[in-house]
Amino acid sequence: MKIIPFLRPHIGHLLYLVNRGGYAVLPHLIVLEISNRCNLRCKMCWWNFDRKEKAKDELTFEEIKKLVGEIKAFRPNITITGAEPFFRKDTAKILLYMADKRLPIRSIFTNGTLVNQESAEAIVKAGVELVQVSIDGDKDTHEKIRGVGGCYDKTIRGIKLIQSVIREKGENSKTDIRINCVISSENLHCLDSLVDLAEGLNVQLQFQHLMWLNKEQINRHEDFLRERFDFEDTTIKNFENNLQSLDLKLLEEKLRKIEQECQKRGIPLYFLQFSDKQTIKKWYTDLSFVPREYCFEPFLAARITSNGDLKFCPLIDYSYGNVKFDNFETLWKGVRAKDIRSELRRKSLFPGCIRCCKL
Ligand SMILES: C[S@@+](CC[C@H](N)C(=O)[O-])C[C@H]1O[C@@H](n2cnc3c(N)ncnc32)[C@H](O)[C@@H]1O
Ligand code: SF4
Ligand code: SF4
Repeated sequence: MKIIPFLRPHIGHLLYLVNRGGYAVLPHLIVLEISNRCNLRCKMCWWNFDRKEKAKDELTFEEIKKLVGEIKAFRPNITITGAEPFFRKDTAKILLYMADKRLPIRSIFTNGTLVNQESAEAIVKAGVELVQVSIDGDKDTHEKIRGVGGCYDKTIRGIKLIQSVIREKGENSKTDIRINCVISSENLHCLDSLVDLAEGLNVQLQFQHLMWLNKEQINRHEDFLRERFDFEDTTIKNFENNLQSLDLKLLEEKLRKIEQECQKRGIPLYFLQFSDKQTIKKWYTDLSFVPREYCFEPFLAARITSNGDLKFCPLIDYSYGNVKFDNFETLWKGVRAKDIRSELRRKSLFPGCIRCCKL
């Protein structure tokens, strides 16, 4: 069935509500993790960089072309991420190819350190709408969190490079740049320093809450996937971290101050998910709390990992096929995908979902 793109999320919601055995219309968003490699080692990151064999197993440019050929007709929004998307040498080529096939690239997540002239030009030429650059605090804090000395200056250089391309070649450019900061115990003391940075760079500012789980919840998630899908999850344990112990009063003070300053200085400010005091308190202290008791995401969006596996979200490692070997639409509408959606619909959430950024 041909569906006008902007109607797809609404129909996705509807199909969730009426529950047609996990059936979903084609996704309005595809998140493509184009690389499983990264030059940084952030404390809170769930990527497992120890498994060397993973690094060799990325979709090739030809395989990405095949995928684009299968999805271009229904024009999903595209988000590019990774581990670090600019670790690949052909990321610029991929962006330009997608743009040439009229796929709207809504967003790229990057640590910014590996952005060079070629990739900056490709970002602007491909009409990427939003470049989300991770910066976690002042220089010292950022580098302590990100595990690599000198990375802060490289990130700032990456942002300025994209801006210079926009100035020189992007007369009608629609590319916005946004600092994305993950709140944790490591950067609480200097969250407000990002207001000056965003103002100085003339970029948007966003705060994201830490995704974290404890052993008990991780065990529950692993047991659930083992019992229900006969699947051994090796990723969920990477969400265990001890960065969630925050002085919540101080966090509240900082966030209100940031809101006031951004408003005063005209800096666009975003909170992924929520910013109210009560929800924040529970998010960081109480794992029996969930902000929302259901999730539509697997009915609306697909995530393709660097080796071509089709999944729904970083917290559910169970795959419903691989786009290297099968057609995207066949997999999206296939038995395995429907089975996961039906189970999610039945259970409302899976055990690991409770600290997912989609809630
Ligand atoms: C996995 S990274 C991939 C893109 C790129 N390497 C980067 O750092 O921006 C995507 C985003 O997830 C954030 N992130 C990493 N670990 C997180 C966690 N435990 N909770 C919330 N966000 C996290 C990163 O800071 C980044 O903004
Ligand atoms: S830069 Fe991104 S992918 Fe790399 S370790 Fe940090 S959060 Fe993870
Ligand atoms: S809440 Fe669960 S199902 Fe929804 S996107 Fe997050 S991990 Fe996936």
